[in-house]
Amino acid sequence: MSADRVPAPRETAIVTGGSSGIGRATVLALARRGFDVGLTYRSRRRDAEAVAAAARSHGVRAATHALDLCDAGRGAAAVDALADELGRVDVLVNNAATNPRGFFLQQSLAAWRATLEIDLTGPLACAQAAARRMVAQGGGGRIVNVTSVLERVALPQGGAYCVAKAGLGMLTRVMALELAEHGIRVNAVAPGHTATPMNDGDRRVEAGGTDWPTIPLGRSAAPEEVANVIAFLCADESSYATGGTFLVDGGLLLVAGPGVLQEATGLPPSDGQLERDGLAGAE
Ligand SMILES: NC(=O)c1ccc[n+]([C@@H]2O[C@H](COP(=O)([O-])OP(=O)(O)OC[C@H]3O[C@@H](n4cnc5c(N)ncnc54)[C@H](OP(=O)(O)O)[C@@H]3O)[C@@H](O)[C@H]2O)c1
Repeated sequence: MSADRVPAPRETAIVTGGSSGIGRATVLALARRGFDVGLTYRSRRRDAEAVAAAARSHGVRAATHALDLCDAGRGAAAVDALADELGRVDVLVNNAATNPRGFFLQQSLAAWRATLEIDLTGPLACAQAAARRMVAQGGGGRIVNVTSVLERVALPQGGAYCVAKAGLGMLTRVMALELAEHGIRVNAVAPGHTATPMNDGDRRVEAGGTDWPTIPLGRSAAPEEVANVIAFLCADESSYATGGTFLVDGGLLLVAGPGVLQEATGLPPSDGQLERDGLAGAE
């Protein structure tokens, strides 16, 4: 390097729901690749601080911010606060979500609205704030929306979640079209069954079991296996990819019929999950 060359500023990535599961693994995958990282958490502040500390051990800057998307409008404020603190935003990963279950006949409008607010309108608000800053900065950007195999297939008791994820998949394609002229690439990653607290998968790991014989690869994903695909879509190696949904499901959708899908994704949520979401009894 010549003595007077100014090094390019480090790129900054913001990950919603970075305190746990796939979001946590994504923060660390991006930090390993040299991104400064901002992450949001809803209830697990201490876990978020621990993730930020682990990110800093890779020599990057890291910041945390509380965000509950039960009011989607807060998403923009959180993205702006993290971008202000870290100086810019080049990458947004819309990862935070809730996954309550409810039979259609018993579905309350309150629970329906809450899920769509968190899982669909929230990502829209976060992406709008990030994209506006990317446009103002010049130089493009990348947005990855984390959807689900349930973006593509229906699951009993999954009405609000399936609709929110299908909507986010379609929003991904609309955003990709509209933002291409600004050099902003937008993609979705659709995980299959992944061992995280969302589906008690972490308890299964602790119990020594993540085997799912009906999934072609024979097991759940580790969060890192999903995070690596997200990180690839945030990197220049994927420079011609936009508007796509990338399945990371161990081949699940190749064989998914209702029974297989119910077994692979249909674990009832823990009572704790529903209570944390304020949705206990709302089904
Ligand atoms: N795990 C799977 O099998 C699976 C399959 C398909 C798709 N996905 C998708 O992958 C993404 C990550 O899920 P995960 O499995 O990693 O779940 P997770 O471990 O339960 O993490 C969820 C994250 O979202 C945050 N969050 C929850 N409710 C929120 C709200 N109301 N407002 C803002 N943030 C909120 C949580 O914050 P706190 O923990 O701080 O409260 C946490 O950081 C989600 O979009 C999910 O739909 C997961």
